[in-house]
Amino acid sequence: MKVCLQTYGCQMNKLDTALVEVALTNNGYMLTDSVKDADVVIINTCSVREHAEQRVRSHLGHLKHIKQHKADLVVGVIGCMAQRLGAELLDDGVVDIVCGPAQIPQIPDLIAKTLREKQKALAITDQIRKPTPPDQADALEEFETIYGPEEKTLPSQAYIRAMRGCDKFCSYCIVPYVRGPETSRSPQAIIAQAEKLADTGTKQITLLGQRINAYEYKAGDKTYCLADLLEMLSQIDGIEWLKFVTSYPSEKYYDRILRAMADLPKVCPYLHIPAQSGSDKILKAMNRGYTATQYLDLLAKARQIVPGITLAGDFIVGFPCETDDDFQETVALVKEAQYKSCFVFKYSPRPGTTADKRLEDTVPLEIKKQRNYKLLEVQEKISDRLSKKFLGQTVKVLVEGPSKKPHLNLAEGKNYPQLVARTATDYIVVFNGPTSLAGQFTTVKITKTSPLTLFAKLE
Ligand code: SAH
Ligand code: SF4
Ligand code: F3S
Repeated sequence: MKVCLQTYGCQMNKLDTALVEVALTNNGYMLTDSVKDADVVIINTCSVREHAEQRVRSHLGHLKHIKQHKADLVVGVIGCMAQRLGAELLDDGVVDIVCGPAQIPQIPDLIAKTLREKQKALAITDQIRKPTPPDQADALEEFETIYGPEEKTLPSQAYIRAMRGCDKFCSYCIVPYVRGPETSRSPQAIIAQAEKLADTGTKQITLLGQRINAYEYKAGDKTYCLADLLEMLSQIDGIEWLKFVTSYPSEKYYDRILRAMADLPKVCPYLHIPAQSGSDKILKAMNRGYTATQYLDLLAKARQIVPGITLAGDFIVGFPCETDDDFQETVALVKEAQYKSCFVFKYSPRPGTTADKRLEDTVPLEIKKQRNYKLLEVQEKISDRLSKKFLGQTVKVLVEGPSKKPHLNLAEGKNYPQLVARTATDYIVVFNGPTSLAGQFTTVKITKTSPLTLFAKLE
């Protein structure tokens, strides 16, 4: 039996897909990239913006067409959209399995059952904001423990989930409603997973959480925070770089985490810390819990405690009632923040969120597009200036593998293709070199720069 898995959405979803892939291969399935070859197609979905859901829907339309000639094809929808829409997804006939993020340990069984009994299957959480029942939490933990250490999205690099869910309820955001309550995994489970990964050659670990800096695990009298976790992970031989995403702008544990970054050589000096807006009025309506000044103070503190730190951010433009003046405050914040890079999203109302229930989506799409474009333009100038500082410098990078966009640079022959690598500060570096460097650290000299990419030569 051949299974084709496809993923939309964030790193959390990519990690879930990787775990499901390992679970399915361990259960005797073969993986394929081609829908045409597959007996089972599983789509891991995202609900964060309407657009993410539309992409899945159009893909399902395509699968419906294929199913007309291939009636036995089993189609599964898993992830955030599965949790959000549930049984509704089964309605138009193409989808056979709907499985939420908390039910992924059941996937091998659900597929086997559907293939055997030719019946539709639905496995989602009924009341998503209720505390996770212990048996479900145990099943998720077991799934992660068994299959996590085999997950290697890139050679020598692995993701470990440190937290599940989110309790922050930013007014625009669907994540708390599809990923459930915030929980931190035990340090023991995370360390055990990291040790196994190190044994099989993993050099970089990235810890994942929607608010990774809120990591908190109580055991007896002791409360572990992210700084404690980083310190424990630092002691594992073989692991050389530690990264974590995404950070939420808040004071709690902030100094301790920054000190860990400054003091522990393995902890990479990089912080992805979304601001979302530069207007206090909008930040309040977003329920973010900080002002623009407080946010900028956090960035200043990061730069003070960790010299050389790079910062990245996220912004939403066109939030309800965002005026031109509000937007100009966002532009001002971006100029002040001096991010390495940032993501900009057009506000998309999500059903069930407080913003959608209480506020009208007042900003016209055309204005959202203009603001999106303008903010990226401002950021591009900053990124370009920051990148140029690297010219002539020698930097240490961890190589991910051959570039997927080799047209950016001409390959110097078949055995010396363009490779993609990253610095500790998360800059993307491309250079020509042997593919045997994939998963290795190396040093390169920066010869050319663009806003988002550094071009280099092997030293
Ligand atoms: N937990 C992370 C990221 C969550 S989703 C955090 O808090 O930073 C990733 C990004 O998507 C967010 O940072 C936000 O910028 C954007 N986003 C979330 N909901 C959105 C919505 N309804 N419309 C547009 N962008 C949204
Ligand atoms: Fe969404 Fe806010 Fe939670 Fe991030 S912190 S996942 S934006 S609710
Ligand atoms: Fe991630 Fe999208 Fe779900 S951003 S948590 S896959 S809604």
